[in-house]
Amino acid sequence: MARRLALVTGASAGIGAAFAHIYASHGYDVALTARRTERLETLASEIRLRFGVEALVIAADLAEPGAPDAILAELTAHGRVVDALINNAGYGLPGVYAETEWPAQREMLQVMLIAPSELTHKLLPGMIERKFGRIVNVASLAGLVPGSAGHTQYAAIKSFMVKISQSLHLENLATGVHVSALCPGFTFSEFHDVNATRAQLTQSTPDWLWLGADEVAATGYEAAEANRPVCVTGVPNKAIAAFAKLLPDDWGLALMASQGGRFRKV
Ligand SMILES: NC(=O)c1ccc[n+]([C@@H]2O[C@H](COP(=O)([O-])OP(=O)(O)OC[C@H]3O[C@@H](n4cnc5c(N)ncnc54)[C@H](OP(=O)(O)O)[C@@H]3O)[C@@H](O)[C@H]2O)c1
Repeated sequence: MARRLALVTGASAGIGAAFAHIYASHGYDVALTARRTERLETLASEIRLRFGVEALVIAADLAEPGAPDAILAELTAHGRVVDALINNAGYGLPGVYAETEWPAQREMLQVMLIAPSELTHKLLPGMIERKFGRIVNVASLAGLVPGSAGHTQYAAIKSFMVKISQSLHLENLATGVHVSALCPGFTFSEFHDVNATRAQLTQSTPDWLWLGADEVAATGYEAAEANRPVCVTGVPNKAIAAFAKLLPDDWGLALMASQGGRFRKV
């Protein structure tokens, strides 16, 4: 039987690269996409050598509205269908909303909300027809706790990813397609270098709150296999998510008002 294919967005670093390894270790061919082609080529060579599977590299900037179609066209040209979609590409945008530029906010919506929704919408019918599919939406613990000042759209986008995963999970209970939102807390990757909060977080967070990208991706793989609609990584993060559910909204916002500045750049 031909090997299944996992398409991983944001595969050039962090959690996405770890997902590529995990799916390849479970016998999937992988299609790796991001903007930094050299990184993807290096990862693809590593994966081919280590796991003996095929690794395709597709350079794409998800901020371009045509990117999802271009990625899918390239896969079709290779004669491949997607069995597992890992919507992972993402980043944080420091600052308060009124002081940022709209194109940067629009790009964030395109990369982290429109592109994953579009890829899902276009790949889901084929998965349903073939009676097999895995969709992992990499959301965040931020999507399960109240919004914060600074990085304004981030928590809202991640809440969207949680909700749409729950809905798609319910819509696909009898189709063979598993849909999961993965909600990591602080994870070692390039994320906090890109959003310039690394130095601040080193001071304000204990080591035990942090997980490695490999552990986070492994948890995501298992959640998708088990068809868990929402999966929070690590015991401390599970406790935070449970606590946030019990907290009245105004208490949650008060907590964010006093503590949010430790984790966000406003
Ligand atoms: N690290 C954490 O603490 C943490 C916690 C919760 C959730 N998350 C989520 O986990 C996901 C992965 O983040 P990470 O921690 O692995 O961060 P990372 O190491 O910075 O990796 C981010 C990935 O997204 C890709 N990307 C960013 N903008 C893109 C664009 N315009 N087009 C295509 N690809 C783009 C990057 O590739 P290129 O730059 O090569 O394009 C890179 O591969 C994100 O959705 C993030 O929100 C992270």
